[in-house]
Amino acid sequence: MSDVLANRSAKDRRKLDYYPTPPEVTHALMQFLNLQPTSVWECACGEGHMAEVIAEYGHNVISTDIRETGYGSGGRDFLLEGKLLAPVIITNPPFQESEAFIRHSTGLGAEVTAMLLKSQYWHAAKRAKLFAEHPPAWVLPLTWRPDFLFGEKGGAPTMEVLWTVWIRGQTDTRYRVLAKPI
Ligand SMILES: C[S@@+](CC[C@H](N)C(=O)[O-])C[C@H]1O[C@@H](n2cnc3c(N)ncnc32)[C@H](O)[C@@H]1O
Repeated sequence: MSDVLANRSAKDRRKLDYYPTPPEVTHALMQFLNLQPTSVWECACGEGHMAEVIAEYGHNVISTDIRETGYGSGGRDFLLEGKLLAPVIITNPPFQESEAFIRHSTGLGAEVTAMLLKSQYWHAAKRAKLFAEHPPAWVLPLTWRPDFLFGEKGGAPTMEVLWTVWIRGQTDTRYRVLAKPI
């Protein structure tokens, strides 16, 4: 994390909807997907916490963010992107924009889209339409609580999350739990 963001309080980071993802969360997804080396677009890359892990699996990662973070290309609003930069999109989207991110990614025609979401995400009645219109291939709850504050609040995280994966042409949703990689 850069000094600028590391020095911000948790409250300041929340205002930016900036929660860097602990590495094991991305490892769990990459080990599950087991993709052949390809190009992957991390379209809300922040400071590259996910992008760096994705690259470890031999992929060419294109990293963009709406903010200038010092990592990847800043000033790129994903929701205004008109062209797919890679066949696979993987990100932890800003929560407020998560539905727009899902619709935009599938709308751009990504072969695979993986988004990290809160574990209750699909329980909300207002998201039933989104699920019906864009049925995911996989819903993958994590069996641990990642520490998005990296120990700042005493390392007792409370948020549970899941990966949801859309694969073009695969509309029968399957469910699998992901163990924490060792
Ligand atoms: C929850 S953070 C995740 C950062 C990074 N993906 C990670 O997992 O470490 C969400 C990120 O979305 C970025 N963001 C917010 N709105 C965006 C938009 N419309 N287009 C692209 N990036 C956006 C924020 O700047 C922030 O870096």
